[in-house]
Amino acid sequence: MFEHLPYHPLDPIFQLLAEYQVDPRPEKVNLGIGLYADHEGKPFVFPVVKEVFGKIDLHNFNYQPIGGNKDFLRLAGELVLPGFDQKNLALHTTCGGTQACSLFKELLLAENPKSSILLGTPTWPNHLVIFKNLSIKKFDHLNAQGEANFEGYVQAIESAKSGDVLLLHGGLTHNPTGRNLSLEQLKKLIPILKRKKVFVFLDFAYLGFGEGIGEDRKYVQIFFDELDDVACGISFSKNASLYEHRIGVLIIKTNEKQAVESQLQQFTRESISMAPGLGQEVMTLVLRDHQKRWSQEVDDVRRDMDERKAMLLKELPDEFQSLKECRGMFGLLPLTSEQVQRLKNEYAVYVTENARINFAGILPGRVGYIASSIRQVL
Ligand code: LMR
Repeated sequence: MFEHLPYHPLDPIFQLLAEYQVDPRPEKVNLGIGLYADHEGKPFVFPVVKEVFGKIDLHNFNYQPIGGNKDFLRLAGELVLPGFDQKNLALHTTCGGTQACSLFKELLLAENPKSSILLGTPTWPNHLVIFKNLSIKKFDHLNAQGEANFEGYVQAIESAKSGDVLLLHGGLTHNPTGRNLSLEQLKKLIPILKRKKVFVFLDFAYLGFGEGIGEDRKYVQIFFDELDDVACGISFSKNASLYEHRIGVLIIKTNEKQAVESQLQQFTRESISMAPGLGQEVMTLVLRDHQKRWSQEVDDVRRDMDERKAMLLKELPDEFQSLKECRGMFGLLPLTSEQVQRLKNEYAVYVTENARINFAGILPGRVGYIASSIRQVL
């Protein structure tokens, strides 16, 4: 058995992490996977999350409903879309933001397998894999000036057919470029989306890391306010440091709430039965009892990432200064793939193969080393 199965390479982001983990060089620096580390490079857990873990009921690890914990879903829905009538929202707990994308793909395959996904590239590599069974229509996310390519988005929507889906990165945190369409530009897309009957799916994995929770969610709300066909996947991996606990939510605006939720429950039942409960319980307590404090801690993390980015940019030549415009965790260094390889092989500085840097991995005490390594490969 299985002699016909070829080896499937690991996702490039996780492949890089695996290489970093076994690298014996003490000078190594991990600027690859999107993880917020403390100033010494150690894993960081939000203080409010740590505190809430101590309140988890250790006498009850019973089954959760297949669709998710109702309190958690209500609170997560209110977090992203405050004041929105939840009667028109299908809500489903997912195993991280990845499964939110993947469940949405399953729904599309069930409802309209001929639909295409309009995808601005470069994007998170897993998008291309998750949506591979649908037709993917790529266009350039960046224009020649290195800014988010508003005209490219307009053209992609104009040439779409009814029922196609535009995938947008929610908030101001495009992965990997850090360059985003403005709220004004997104507003201009809405009438075109309506006219062309193009559905919008927002992958919202970095809520709060753009300009704060209140500001970032506006980039999602405008679509839910204006469009009938819109969905959003959210994740608490980064903004609540719950990476390994895999906690996210899929939110779909629909008049067919019951049918949509039932389908999501069936997809979940046949694959993982239900999303893990621990993250749902933790986030229920955070969102119900400590939302203000959590939001402040997210702000602290965001400011710290920005400061760490600024420290590094001060040490780098002019061609790197446009990274000041990036929002969120990531930006693209102006390096070739050969230079990226040299950074890893000669200096143990790890950035992803497309030269994406995770600003939250910059260690203040190592800025000099990172900057001189980059300068050496130029
Ligand atoms: C990343 O892009 O580094 C993160 O979102 C981690 C992941 O799941 O790919």
